[in-house]
Amino acid sequence: MTKLDRLATFATLLFSLAAIPATVGHATASTTLSRSIVLLSGDGASMTIPSAGGPLGLTNSNPAAVSAAVSGTTLSVTALAPGKAAIVVKEGRKTRAKLKVTVKAPMTVAPTTLAVPVAESAQARISNAFGPVVATSADTAVATVYLDGESVVVRGRAAGATTVTVRDSRTTVSVAVTVSAPGGGSGGGGGGTVSGTTEGRLLASNCFQCHGTYGSGGFDRISGKSETELIEELNEFLAGGEDPGGIMAAHLQGYTAAQLQAIARYLSHP
Ligand code: HEC
Repeated sequence: MTKLDRLATFATLLFSLAAIPATVGHATASTTLSRSIVLLSGDGASMTIPSAGGPLGLTNSNPAAVSAAVSGTTLSVTALAPGKAAIVVKEGRKTRAKLKVTVKAPMTVAPTTLAVPVAESAQARISNAFGPVVATSADTAVATVYLDGESVVVRGRAAGATTVTVRDSRTTVSVAVTVSAPGGGSGGGGGGTVSGTTEGRLLASNCFQCHGTYGSGGFDRISGKSETELIEELNEFLAGGEDPGGIMAAHLQGYTAAQLQAIARYLSHP
């Protein structure tokens, strides 16, 4: 692609330096135009240089970041790579225009795939946002999303898949989100056997929001205790002995005995 092709391709993106008052183009020969603009790689911009009709020449401090050319009284620039460039247009010895161009890299989000269990959160990091950022989930029944500083926080709501779209003023990035069931299947009811540390871990992940990742802290460290001790403590909460009406008494409703056993087994050997 030649530079001219690039300019043509991105003509639609032309930043409205055209919005500079129309009088600028017909300004008196003593005017010096000064502008600072921010572009993304690939963007083009152009401006009319006030001149007395003599030949215009330009200097470009950083041709690797920005390509610049004058044709007639029009200065055209194309952003090539992140960086800054100062472009000065002269007519003879008189400076007619000074343009400072900052080329930004487009916004990125990493990672662009997230796996999260129901009722847990996962994060992706935003870099180089250009203007305000908005994040939306295509299916809020599966996962919801909010922004926390430079992070996109995705929270699993129900097993399934959805796409989270992160948008700044120029770039849109899609994040593929997979939400896994908390209990590895039917979840709750029935009292079927639940065994193995994998199901225990998935069930216990409901505890991590308050007790830290893998039960490592939060309100109370719950990992590393013996299975029997944990079962005793959980039964104590369930019986209303430890803290009647408290968070744990409420939280533990809805797990079967087999599920609590699996959670305790997992937490004893996380
Ligand atoms: C919504 C927050 C929350 C969730 C979710 C939660 N807990 Fe708790 N947990 C607490 C709080 C608060 C305490 C301490 C206060 C109390 O005694 O009620 C506690 C105390 C405990 C204790 C007693 C710890 C000690 O050293 O005395 C155990 C064991 C425990 N939780 C296990 C679990 C397990 C297992 C899960 C998941 C099935 C879980 N918790 C989920 C908030 C939570």
